[in-house]
Amino acid sequence: MKLLVTGGAGFIASNYIRYVLSAHPDYHIINLDKLTYAGNLENLKDIEASDRYTFIKGDICDGELLRETEFDAIINFAAESHVDRSILDAQPFLQTNVMGTCNLLEVARQRGCVFLHVSTDEVYGSTREGAFHEASPLLPNSPYSASKASSDLLVRSYVETHKLKAMITRCSNNYGPYQFPEKLIPLVILNAINRKPIPVYGDGMNVRDWIYVMDHCKAVDAVFHKGASGDIYNIGSRNERPNIEIVKLILRKVAEKLGLDEDALMKLITFVGDRKGHDRRYAIDPSKTERELGWRPEMDFGEGITKTIEWYIANEQWWQRILSGDYMEYYNAQYGERLRT
Ligand code: NAD
Ligand code: DAU
Repeated sequence: MKLLVTGGAGFIASNYIRYVLSAHPDYHIINLDKLTYAGNLENLKDIEASDRYTFIKGDICDGELLRETEFDAIINFAAESHVDRSILDAQPFLQTNVMGTCNLLEVARQRGCVFLHVSTDEVYGSTREGAFHEASPLLPNSPYSASKASSDLLVRSYVETHKLKAMITRCSNNYGPYQFPEKLIPLVILNAINRKPIPVYGDGMNVRDWIYVMDHCKAVDAVFHKGASGDIYNIGSRNERPNIEIVKLILRKVAEKLGLDEDALMKLITFVGDRKGHDRRYAIDPSKTERELGWRPEMDFGEGITKTIEWYIANEQWWQRILSGDYMEYYNAQYGERLRT
């Protein structure tokens, strides 16, 4: 199986590639990534020498490149993924998330290959009570989630119109190793370590439903192998928390791990103006995925947060090179001009 993984240098897909290489010895991974600010080949340093791994620097919007590349199936992780950036400039989100997905769908249709589209619970919008299920209406509120909902609808249209074999996964908020420090959990960990202010939007009572990244990766793998074409699979671990609770939990754990004064770290919490259109609450019902695919989330939240904090403490060089911008040089040093840019 030659599996095209798009966006493989990002947070979730780099974890996914590592998982697949160990779980499926007969798989070859082709990682197609544009290396935007969020793409970091240092996420894959430990596996890049594998003869079952190939990296291609390229854009999912580049049809010619896709047609030249050999593969049997596609898992599409590539996206502009950060809500705050989509509020500042929606264009790259439409380009990659909508046009890029459409381009991949077209190539999948021509090849007759399976297409798994990695989407998000944010397409369902915000809910005051209950949990999103697969038939919940699409009510996206940010340009990011609107672009993801659009791509989900395109996938649906290719299944209906062209009989493409395709599945969609919709997962809740991920956390774990290799997450880019613009997202809440790594941002809080690093700002605590560096004693910098920790911005909490609004009243801090917005609720997110957190899942450990490897649980998400295993669910994607289960959908890829056992999912029904045309179906949507919600992924989550029934773990809703208000942001402020997460921030305080992280600060307590960082203080304990590094022997720092907990009260001093708590003083870093800084309430700031709210995100525009800030969704109040997400809650995802993963029952269908559990029932039909036999998948279950395994990681307890307290343990997952501890492991994540330990990972960031142990991998200071990784995040220092992101904070300084040096991580972007790794590609040139490793791959130079040998690959298409
Ligand atoms: P990320 O921002 O860490 O990584 C995105 C990757 O895509 C980067 O490596 C980037 O270089 C690459 N990329 C961007 N534009 C590209 C293009 N045009 N062509 C090729 N590569 C391109 O994202 P993430 O948090 O790992 O999310 C991965 C996927 O999972 C996204 O589709 C996102 O919508 C979805 N998702 C994320 C979460 C979460 O909590 N992070 C939850 C549910 C779903
Ligand atoms: O729900 C899945 C989604 O989760 C994914 O589709 C997105 O790609 C991913 O980025 C994430 O979106 P969120 O907007 O929920 O994640 P973020 O880490 O940006 O924010 C989490 C919560 O924390 C949200 O309520 C906003 C708040 N926040 C965030 C940042 C960066 C703060 O209060 N302060 C901050 O500095």
